[in-house]
Amino acid sequence: MSPYALTRTLPEDATGAALRSDVLAGLTGSPKTLPPKWFYDARGSELFDEITTLPEYYPTRAEREILVARAAEIAAATGARTLIELGSGSSDKTRHLLAEFPELTHYVPVDVSESALRGAARTLLAEHPALAVHALVADFTRALELPPTPGPRLVAFLGGTIGNLLPEERAAFLTAVRGLLSPGDSFLLGTDLVKDEATLVAAYDDAAGVTAAFDKNVLAVVNRELGADFDLGAFEHVAVWNAGREWIEMRLRSTVAQTVKIPALDLAVTFAAGEELRTEVSAKFRREGVQAELAASGLELTGWWADAAGRFALSSSSVPTP
Ligand code: SAH
Ligand code: TRP
Repeated sequence: MSPYALTRTLPEDATGAALRSDVLAGLTGSPKTLPPKWFYDARGSELFDEITTLPEYYPTRAEREILVARAAEIAAATGARTLIELGSGSSDKTRHLLAEFPELTHYVPVDVSESALRGAARTLLAEHPALAVHALVADFTRALELPPTPGPRLVAFLGGTIGNLLPEERAAFLTAVRGLLSPGDSFLLGTDLVKDEATLVAAYDDAAGVTAAFDKNVLAVVNRELGADFDLGAFEHVAVWNAGREWIEMRLRSTVAQTVKIPALDLAVTFAAGEELRTEVSAKFRREGVQAELAASGLELTGWWADAAGRFALSSSSVPTP
């Protein structure tokens, strides 16, 4: 098998320091929150892959349907020689793009999960032995230092992961993406669309309890990394549709009054019975909103493709030509 390059831009302790400051800020605020990127240790990445196969979790299948139908068209429109994928995870859907990009020579998957990147690089290289793969362990909400690769470049952000950023974070993120693009480059964005509440809630609260296990995994990460004593059995997973904000909120509800100790922060956190900790939002979009957010960051919408049932959309955008 061909080798791949892997660059870590998260020094071991930067991650620890960031986790400590995020957990401290999140658990001493009101309401309590924890930021989503800490879901994805090796176990979290595995659980997420399991979520993508659940009958209730439609986004992965809907996005795959669009990719299968439209990859050739997207490839022709972008002419990309380099694909940079943010939050690439298992890169499983990416294979549909790679299959249709005759000009593509370089693939740069970017993720906080090193285990997911290594698995993805191995699998993709088995199918595309000539592809130059340079995996980047990095936080896509921070300035990215990308390896030098040939243009045109296509930056892809799939899975609806943009919905896990809050509106201000999204604006900053899109502006940073705009900064990565030169004229002739493109941005391919996957967004889950607003739909009926029952479908949305089921996608984030499945019958088999996999999403609940995924949500609670963030507590296991804090236990392991910061020596905390969260009792995973004393929290229950809750998914709520916030109609005003048009996002799903994932929360962990403390089933009893309890105090959790976090030795690495020298912190004791008390939870009232029924108190909820917000772990993640997953915003849902409309075409006009996506177009406006892209425009606000200096990106012009150039393509929009939805699945047949209208559940999910892929959009392409680029730097406007003057
Ligand atoms: N693109 C894949 C995975 C989506 S899950 C799909 O569509 O199925 C979200 C992915 O983003 C996970 O692999 C997670 O590890 C990664 N991720 C989350 N926050 C991140 C951050 N701040 N920086 C880099 N990667 C992040
Ligand atoms: N990007 C995924 C989404 O918003 C992440 C996700 C799916 C998720 N299911 C989850 C995050 C459950 C937390 C809990 O659809």
